[in-house]
Amino acid sequence: MDHFIYKNGVLHAEDVSLTEIAASVGTPFYVYSTATLERHFAVFDEALEGLDHKIFYAMKANGNLAVLRTLAAMGAGMDVVSGGEYAKARAAGVPGEHIVFSGVGKTEAEMWQVLNGGIRQFNVESEPELRQLSRVASAMGKVAAITLRVNPDVDAKTHAKIATGKSENKFGIPMAKAREAYKEAASLPGIEVVGIDVHIGSQLTDLEPYRQAFTKVAELTEQLRADGHNIHRLDLGGGLGIPYERSNEAPPLPVEYGQVIKETVGHLGCEIEIEPGRLIAGNAGLLVSEVVYLKHGEGRDFLIIDAAMNDLVRPAMYEAHHDIVPVSEPEAGVEPTPLDIVGPVCESGDTFAKQRAMPPLKAGDLVAFRSAGAYGAVMASEYNARPLIPEVLVKGDQFAVVRARPTYEEMISRDTLPSWMES
Ligand code: LLP
Repeated sequence: MDHFIYKNGVLHAEDVSLTEIAASVGTPFYVYSTATLERHFAVFDEALEGLDHKIFYAMKANGNLAVLRTLAAMGAGMDVVSGGEYAKARAAGVPGEHIVFSGVGKTEAEMWQVLNGGIRQFNVESEPELRQLSRVASAMGKVAAITLRVNPDVDAKTHAKIATGKSENKFGIPMAKAREAYKEAASLPGIEVVGIDVHIGSQLTDLEPYRQAFTKVAELTEQLRADGHNIHRLDLGGGLGIPYERSNEAPPLPVEYGQVIKETVGHLGCEIEIEPGRLIAGNAGLLVSEVVYLKHGEGRDFLIIDAAMNDLVRPAMYEAHHDIVPVSEPEAGVEPTPLDIVGPVCESGDTFAKQRAMPPLKAGDLVAFRSAGAYGAVMASEYNARPLIPEVLVKGDQFAVVRARPTYEEMISRDTLPSWMES
């Protein structure tokens, strides 16, 4: 459930009409609903009730400071994957002990940064990373708490570009090598083994791969404990899918996912950590855009809008579906017609939907992309010198720009000329 509904014939974010926001900030823009973010967090938290658990929001999904603040106020920790994300989490007021550091290529500088600033744990992805971390932590006179991310070699049955738990993927340490890696970890200075980490992919719409992966993690926990390691934390990653196509998708509910966790690892007495991103932010955000032209092509009509692949890259990158709805509620009984919905960028890939049934639309009308709160704004670029679009947060009947659209001057001034070109 989200808080984007039609009221008096106009799509609203909570109690604010999208036409009002459009008039104030211009199009295109992203808009997020506080109540939806809070609801998604609460639903996930409740799904894990009965387990000693903590949610580390995967801020790669949506790293806006105001979004981070909203979730941190609910008790969320953060899962970060770069020094930049760590700095942003801290800037949002999240203490180091509520931050876990994931990622396959943590640099020495990033290790130094987060050890210095404070961190709950590193989710280490390889033996070379483990040795590097040991060197950095020892040199600093610190001890780094670690889990090792294991690769359980399960098929997450999701888009190939966002599956991470097969042995051919770059992520984690193969299960077969895990005991050896833990043995090395236990022998290294500056390292304290605290648990196991696993993450098998994103937008999972089937619980079975989770069940398989978590069962393997449970077996490994017992083995490692028998080997003498103090395994007391399990980080189970993120990845639970959301409905993108509301008319025919019903991914598993968080409570069902929670049940799988309880059944597979609940008996181990471990602290459970999870890192959801999309499930918290995805359906808490819309991308709102204005129709520029309706163009009649040969055999098909094109709805040309002012948002493009640089603003929302998911359809171009993953063939992802986003429901697209008119901001003015269509009158009952109006016949939809098929349209290709495209942006203005000079690439055929700048296509959001092909032959999508849409009610009648004309230049100046607004449309909203649903499920755009995760991996939308964060993956945007300024391709075609299109400035990053603003982000707006709504709370009840209030709204605020939480990232402003740069002016052309601001965008241009980030480039600098070398001295030999200056006059
Ligand atoms: N933890 C780790 C280690 C991850 O790599 C990810 C996502 C998450 C947690 C959060 O997964 P989520 O709950 O959001 O599924 N840009 C792609 C998604 C990439 C996901 C990368 N890792 C998209 O737009 O579909």
